[in-house]
Amino acid sequence: MPQKIIILDFGSQTTQLIGRRVRELNTYCEIVPYNKFPADDPDVIGVILSGSPFSVYDAKAFSTEVAPLVAKYPVLGICYGAQMMAYQAGGTVESAPSREYGRAILTSVDSSDALLAGIEPGETVWMSHGDTITSLPEGFRIIASTDDVPCAAYHVDGHRQWGVQFHPEVFHSTCGTRLLANFVMGICGSLGDWSAESYIESTVAELRRELGDDKVVLGLSGGVDSSVAAVLISRAIGDNLTCIFVDHGLLRKDEFKQVLDDYRCLGLNVLGVDASEEFFMALKGVTDPERKRKIIGKGFIDVFDREAHKLRDVKWLAQGTIYPDRIESLSITGTTIKSHHNVGGLPEKMNLRLCEPLKWLFKDEVRAVGHALGMPDHLIKRHPFPGPGLAVRILGDITPEKVRILQEADDIFIRGLRERGLYDQVWQAGVILLPVQSVGVMGDERTYESAVALRAVTSTDAMTADWAHLPYDFLAKVSNDIINKVRGVNRVTYDISSKPPATIEWE
Ligand code: XMP
Repeated sequence: MPQKIIILDFGSQTTQLIGRRVRELNTYCEIVPYNKFPADDPDVIGVILSGSPFSVYDAKAFSTEVAPLVAKYPVLGICYGAQMMAYQAGGTVESAPSREYGRAILTSVDSSDALLAGIEPGETVWMSHGDTITSLPEGFRIIASTDDVPCAAYHVDGHRQWGVQFHPEVFHSTCGTRLLANFVMGICGSLGDWSAESYIESTVAELRRELGDDKVVLGLSGGVDSSVAAVLISRAIGDNLTCIFVDHGLLRKDEFKQVLDDYRCLGLNVLGVDASEEFFMALKGVTDPERKRKIIGKGFIDVFDREAHKLRDVKWLAQGTIYPDRIESLSITGTTIKSHHNVGGLPEKMNLRLCEPLKWLFKDEVRAVGHALGMPDHLIKRHPFPGPGLAVRILGDITPEKVRILQEADDIFIRGLRERGLYDQVWQAGVILLPVQSVGVMGDERTYESAVALRAVTSTDAMTADWAHLPYDFLAKVSNDIINKVRGVNRVTYDISSKPPATIEWE
């Protein structure tokens, strides 16, 4: 297994960012709850303690004893992590007279210290704290200061132990990457050799060991995560992996066939199940968005379970769960892992063991792994698409005719984005069929037809999003094409709402 850095999570919003930055240094890392340090793991080369919403003197504050860690590994405490180490050793941490958020400038720096090598006074650092260390224990030596924070960074003499009050993981800390590289590579000795290729190599070997000759079933959605998981597992166990791709009739135009063809070209043992009739029946007359989601979720589980039971001796259920799916729910007080929202409920129902080979990867790393596995760009750069598909983009009840109209309009928009080279610049795009009819005129005839909304957003994680500022002439062409070519639509609008307060999907 690769060398790894352990990030102990004390609940800060930026813990995930620390993980990303370490991975950007081609070093494998894992984020674990503050009280779940993997003491027996021989691959650990260093430990980072994250920030926290608490103060060290809060009764509820999360705390872990650092002395045993320091005895074994280099340790870097960030913000709360730094305060906690100082506090445990007898230092004083107090509420700062003014809470400090935002940029600060390092006014003095001891660049002879290994953590700060190559870092000069004048660098910007990002502060976000209400507390400050007002007196340091014996042996703790200040190695950087700002005007307001005398102890911006410290090193404990004779130990491989450092603390920084600022957040090197935040983009605005100009010396952040340098500092983390100093710690991870210089101090912990990471070789920086963790890459998509090395991940594939070690994961395939591990999957072979873990799965042996067992049979595995996996639900494909057409999305990036499940597709990459499938290709990775099939590398390890070949046709002992059976993939099931369910068509609920609410996919994009021709998507079922195209994606199925892609999967087969990739050598996957895949079973395509057209269950659209079943889903349309179950959705008939339903208008409430949450009921639509529930019906589709349950329908998916029923079809998948039925098909999987036709296979013999299946022992494992594989899922394309990725790290951010789990981090949100890997609460630091426990370790409950939510099931993947597309197939929620399946593991319990099927009584199978779970195999999640992407569970440590961020989205861009999943794409890099897909790329290194030789998967085509149009599969790995695919926009996210909701599990319930077009059902949540048809406002009101769902009929096959409405699905047809939406598929046609959506196809024109998405193809247009690809042709203009805009597809990869937006996070996600689609068309919404509105439950609104309006008057129009075509030729000499008055029409009374549906309106659609185009939706395209930019985002990095779907948590927040802005509407994409697509060129007017492009929008004009898409609007024209849709109205001319899609029977049933006579009006096109563009959604210019950001998230929050709107959401990406309309339902
Ligand atoms: P919202 O609409 O909440 O969407 O801004 C955020 C992201 O999640 C996707 N989404 C879903 N994905 N099942 C899914 O698998 C769902 O029920 C679902 N609802 C929203 C949405 O497309 C966007 O990428």
